[in-house]
Amino acid sequence: MVVLTILLFILVTLLFKLLYENLSCYLLTPLRIKKIMEMQGVRGPKPRFFTGNILDMASLVSKSTSQDMKTISHDIVGRLLPHFLLWTSQFGKRYIYWNGSEPRLCLTETELIKEFLSKYSTVSGKSWLQKQGSKNFIGEGVLMANGENWYHQRHIVAPAFIGDRLKSYAGHMVECTKEMLESLQKGLECGESEVEIGEYMTKLTADIISRTEFGTSYQKGKKIFHLLTLLQTRCAQASRHLCFPGSRFFPSKYNREIKSLKMEVEKLLMEIIQSRKDCVEIGRSNSYGNDLLGILLNEMKKKENSLNLQLVMDECKTFFFSGHETTALLLTWTVMLLASNPCWQQKVRDEVKRVCNAGIPSLDQLSKLTMLHMVINESLRLYPPASVLPRMAFEDIILGDLYIPKGLSIWIPVLAIHHNEKLWGKDANEFNPDRFTSKSFIPSRFLPFAFGPRNCVGQTFALMEAKIILAMLISRFSFTISDDYRHAPVVVLTIKPKYGVQVCLKPLES
Ligand code: HEM
Repeated sequence: MVVLTILLFILVTLLFKLLYENLSCYLLTPLRIKKIMEMQGVRGPKPRFFTGNILDMASLVSKSTSQDMKTISHDIVGRLLPHFLLWTSQFGKRYIYWNGSEPRLCLTETELIKEFLSKYSTVSGKSWLQKQGSKNFIGEGVLMANGENWYHQRHIVAPAFIGDRLKSYAGHMVECTKEMLESLQKGLECGESEVEIGEYMTKLTADIISRTEFGTSYQKGKKIFHLLTLLQTRCAQASRHLCFPGSRFFPSKYNREIKSLKMEVEKLLMEIIQSRKDCVEIGRSNSYGNDLLGILLNEMKKKENSLNLQLVMDECKTFFFSGHETTALLLTWTVMLLASNPCWQQKVRDEVKRVCNAGIPSLDQLSKLTMLHMVINESLRLYPPASVLPRMAFEDIILGDLYIPKGLSIWIPVLAIHHNEKLWGKDANEFNPDRFTSKSFIPSRFLPFAFGPRNCVGQTFALMEAKIILAMLISRFSFTISDDYRHAPVVVLTIKPKYGVQVCLKPLES
């Protein structure tokens, strides 16, 4: 009897604890944060129970993206972030909205953004909800890690993207691009003068990241990319599926589908990892290699508990994902912009001809391609692949005149900042690479790769890759936008052209 009473007592205590934790996480803390922000004059749209403003945002976006744009206009903030325009007009430049039970402060003041991203990288990071959404996708890899784990992982992976290692990738980039150009040429010879360039760019950047970081070809990595893309699409819907307490534990169709995709990807990654380990074990090689996978495996061997196999796989998924899609989108949007601006296309072609031998840039020549760099920057400004940067404060923070309580997420609408007329002038929605001529533009208003210690670790890799590919493409072909192109940017985690970018290619005399 006594034992039963004790057990009952423990059970009831545990139940109360669970109930309190859920109540605190989903209701009490968010309400406390709301009150603190309201006392500072920051308000926002009324949230619904559990779903917050998610349904309002989904309905606004679904309406604004229901049709293609009538012309190739770059005025896309109203289309992709209609809720931002609505709420800033109602509540001013700072407002608070609810992503489920997670309060988010929309911040557009560039000085505050700069301070936040540069000073508070270890006490802010990815929120619980964000991590839940991508848990089965890229797991605890560096992109999703927080605090000390992030700091440690960032220091392990960063050497793969600097100095001589980075330089050694240039050869692979040129080789992969040559193969793509050959396949475009073959297509032309078979009468295929119109291509969807996005498909080619996605394959190409996947091939480059597979070869440079994992020592495997696109053919081998192909299945992984395919499965990761499926996982990404499903995980992008996480906030709709996971906003109810405990919903991640339900054996719903959504959860089952995600689990099975995750298992398939990890099985393939294990094959790549195992074959690298086998090479060392059977003596065919005396090191795991110099690329990212080699660095990760060496680290795993070096220190117990530093990296485990799951974390190595999470990092591989993180880099397979972040190392190719964003760059493919940058290239695709840049081709679209150059195809619809023949004058800039010619300027860049002339520059490449002047600087490079046979249209293939060497490492020293890359820095001399200034016009190409300006075009790439302008493309990243108009169509930043990552349209928003969300970061949660894990400690109370003072930011300018704002007190940011622990648990509040800061939401930086990069796309809206990049298109803001007050920051970029009346022609903010126009394609005008000349604006990047001046070195004096303020970096905190240009955030395609984020800012501060937690910026994109692959930034230099991506820019080197983009310059090589565009220089080689532009010296081999001229291109115009096809009549079939439908201008319909959409956000599925990143900004994508909904139907791809169709261009008509013409080979140039060599
Ligand atoms: C045009 C191409 C790219 C763009 C626009 C881009 C953009 C970004 C942005 C905005 C972030 C910050 C995300 C956040 O904190 O929420 C980020 C982080 C990251 N990027 Fe990139 N990226 C690009 C290419 C690459 C490439 C080529 C790689 C790897 C080869 C890469 C690897 C990463 C990683 C690992 C992080 C996480 C860094 C950290 O949290 O410490 N990215 N990127």
